Amino acid sequence: MRLEGRTALITGAAGGIGSATARAFAREGADLCLSDIWDTATVTSEVKALGRRAIETRTDVTSRAEIRNMVDKAVEAFGRIDVLVTVAGVTSLGDAESLGEAEWDRVIDINLKGTWLCCQAIIAQMRRQQYGRIVTVGSLIGKNGGNPRPWINPEEQAGSSNVAYGASKAGVHAVTHFLAKELAADGITVNSVSPGPIATKMTANISLQLDEIIPVGRMGTTDEVADAILFLASESSGFITGETLDINGGIMVD
Ligand SMILES: NC(=O)c1ccc[n+]([C@@H]2O[C@H](COP(=O)([O-])OP(=O)(O)OC[C@H]3O[C@@H](n4cnc5c(N)ncnc54)[C@H](O)[C@@H]3O)[C@@H](O)[C@H]2O)c1
Repeated sequence: MRLEGRTALITGAAGGIGSATARAFAREGADLCLSDIWDTATVTSEVKALGRRAIETRTDVTSRAEIRNMVDKAVEAFGRIDVLVTVAGVTSLGDAESLGEAEWDRVIDINLKGTWLCCQAIIAQMRRQQYGRIVTVGSLIGKNGGNPRPWINPEEQAGSSNVAYGASKAGVHAVTHFLAKELAADGITVNSVSPGPIATKMTANISLQLDEIIPVGRMGTTDEVADAILFLASESSGFITGETLDINGGIMVD
């Protein structure tokens, strides 16, 4: 039980990676605050069926006021928040040449500003505890310039380029690095996972034949991402901070 007696707040908990993380945490003993703009009733039932306490909040991560309420509600219910996992995010298609400004702003607001606001809102509580684990969710796309190969096939570019998404996730990696240094002296670690293509509804409509470009020959699973998040959320990862953990089947190695 790697999270026995711990409490965790997970944003994007209704989605593929968020709900898998919630189930993994519950199996390891954590009580959970499950947050999303969608209904989290299904995952809440699953967590309770595993014998853990769970509360829900409807929170839009672009709203500082809603995030404040989310943190207050979790602290009120459990007395402390040991782990924050910022999973909430959206995908976006569009290349740098043709992308509209509104789409750029939408994606940066949710993925990057939303991640920063959630982390910011939890810092005071974690400093009081002198303990915390923050795990953000970045992406391979924030590191590799995207998967399409327009020099081979322009159609790949048209159907799967995602520059705003990549920029937002590169920003998530950077915020993670800054927070790791800011919070290190207070027993708080801050790391990100950087998944490659994972089979969820987020990747269902991408036209690129992804398994052809993944060395292990398949897409990843939400459970594989959740297991990596679990490790970074546990006590045993205490000397790891500022790390970006790749979970990408070997598409990019660095
Ligand atoms: N699926 C992949 O291949 C992949 C790869 C790398 C990174 N990621 C990242 O993993 C995270 C989860 O992705 P997923 O594949 O589980 O997708 P998903 O669509 O299943 O889950 C995303 C969740 O975020 C929530 N969300 C969206 N906007 C929100 C907002 N403004 N406020 C609060 N919640 C909001 C959605 O309601 C949804 O439940 C995302 O940050 C995504 O960018 C996914």
